[in-house]
Amino acid sequence: MLQQIQIAKTDLVFPLFVDETLLKKRAITSMPGQERYPVNQVGKAAQDLWDCGLRAILLFGIPKIKDAVASAAFEKEGVVQRAVRTIKNTVPDMAVITDVCACEYTDHGHCGIVGETRSGTDLLNDPSLEVMNRIAVSHALAGADVVAPSCMLDGMVGSIRSALDDEGFEDVLIMSYSTKFASAFYGPFREAAESGYAFGDRSTYQINPANAREAFLESQLDANEGADILMVKPAGFYLDILAEIATIGLPVAGYQVSGEYAMIKAAAQRGWIKEREAVTETLTSIKRAGADLIISYFAPDVARWMDEEQ
Ligand code: PBG
Repeated sequence: MLQQIQIAKTDLVFPLFVDETLLKKRAITSMPGQERYPVNQVGKAAQDLWDCGLRAILLFGIPKIKDAVASAAFEKEGVVQRAVRTIKNTVPDMAVITDVCACEYTDHGHCGIVGETRSGTDLLNDPSLEVMNRIAVSHALAGADVVAPSCMLDGMVGSIRSALDDEGFEDVLIMSYSTKFASAFYGPFREAAESGYAFGDRSTYQINPANAREAFLESQLDANEGADILMVKPAGFYLDILAEIATIGLPVAGYQVSGEYAMIKAAAQRGWIKEREAVTETLTSIKRAGADLIISYFAPDVARWMDEEQ
């Protein structure tokens, strides 16, 4: 009765990987218990999540063909666009959030268009914004409720907001990956989404973990540009940042990323920690720090544990 923080199923968002090259589900080895889904199985996956009480999915796509300009990311028949339509046809009330980024769709693995800059080959900000606008609009056309730009480009929220509004999608929300650190904990995700990069790293557009002031400012800027939901990623090691960003006054999501998932899983598999207790503790802490939403690969497990308790 007196416990201050309670996790609810409606706090949780489950990240789902849809792979256009698959005919059946395929395990993700660096994330035990997680799988990539073929497009024809996402309807059932969404229904199962709905049945265990979850109400929101964050979709990532793995396309058949990658190229330098991420063409497959904004096609009408692209992997995410097809998955969104399938989910919305199967479970119309499921909140469908789509990751808007190019790194799964480019052959070089960077989050947008690359070219020569004064400091060598790197992401080009403004040409990449055009790509994000097209991706976001194509997801909205397919029926996405929320688009989630994760590319950390300057001006991405403002740019996507105008692109959506111009196409009549004023009611599609933007959940910005507003404070996204250049983190070692995305390692397993890069296997899951085949989004490793061919050269360089992402430190020119993601935030240095040592920079708290910049981390706050990035979210503040996105709030000013019209973001509806802010995000801190990874969540677990950045609770101080999350608590500060919660003061901006917009809903905040904390993303418990692939590396945080893999660490808990690996230790639990060896019997070194208790999985259920460790997961509950981490999610409770993320909420205690101020998160309204928690994106976690553990979401279906947590929902199941809640049912067992009743
Ligand atoms: C970029 C993106 C990444 C993650 C979510 N969106 C990878 C990256 O920035 O390198 C990582 C999520 C995770 O590790 O669980 N599209």
